This record gives sequence, structure tokens and C-alpha cells, in this order.
Amino acid sequence: GGPVDVPLASVPPGTITTVEWRGRPVWILHRTPAMLASLGGHDADLVDPASQEDQQPFYARNATRATRPEFFVATAVCTHLGCIPAFRPEVAPPDLGPRWPGGFFCPCHGSTFDLAGRVFRNVPAPRNLEIPPYSFAGDNVVVGV
Ligand code: FES
Repeated sequence: GGPVDVPLASVPPGTITTVEWRGRPVWILHRTPAMLASLGGHDADLVDPASQEDQQPFYARNATRATRPEFFVATAVCTHLGCIPAFRPEVAPPDLGPRWPGGFFCPCHGSTFDLAGRVFRNVPAPRNLEIPPYSFAGDNVVVGV
């Protein structure tokens, strides 16, 4: 279908919501300052920290992978075999990988992503999570344009 309008007020800081766009789930995560801080300090553990390899919108090619850092919009489909990763913002136990600062965890084969959907090394998923086209209009985020 067409674009999906989501009021930003429906996603308070620290929460995530899922909408459907073109038959796929899309997350909108409202990142807190602490969540944004969690993106720092582990670039060396990431496959593609600045998303330079991704065939994605230009506004995803930065460390926060967003146009407005506090709002993270991403396709909720693991780049390995397409499972839906779980939102796991808390710092993970060591068995989920060294220095994983929390983010998204794919239950199918254990891929780990940070809160910008950036994939860690040595997991099955080959690429960062996809960013769909989106824009902001007034008090809404619009997925699909
Ligand atoms: Fe996500 Fe395999 S589908 S790790």
C-alpha cells in the first residue's frame, strides 16, 4: 500500500511501535539520550558502522542511521533469513556476544544489532537492517515517502 502516517506522540521516548508498510513490519523507535549514547564505542565490532555498503536511503548512511536521531525507523526483518528480531534495549548477558550494548536480537540464529540496526560481526546476518523511505510531516512520521 501507500504511505503510513504515524503520530510521533504515539511513540513516547524509550518505546517502539510497529506498523506495516508494503506487507513488511516497520519499527519506529523513539530513542532516549541514553539509547543514543549506547551507539557509541563499538564501531570496531560492527560490520558496517556508517552504513556505507547499504543500498539504502542516503540519510541512513551515518552512525544513527536516521534524519532525526531520536527517531529510528527500520524494516523489522533480519537480513539473514527474514525473521523478526526482538527489541532488547537492555544490556545483554555475555552469552549474546561480547560488548553487545543492547538493541535487537534475532531469535532464529542469534544475530545481534545495536539500536541503529547495525549488525555486529560474527553473526549470521550479513548487513545492517534496512531503512525504508520515510519523512517527517508536521507531528507525524510518514513511512513510504
Ligand atoms: Fe535472523 Fe537468521 S534470520 S539470524
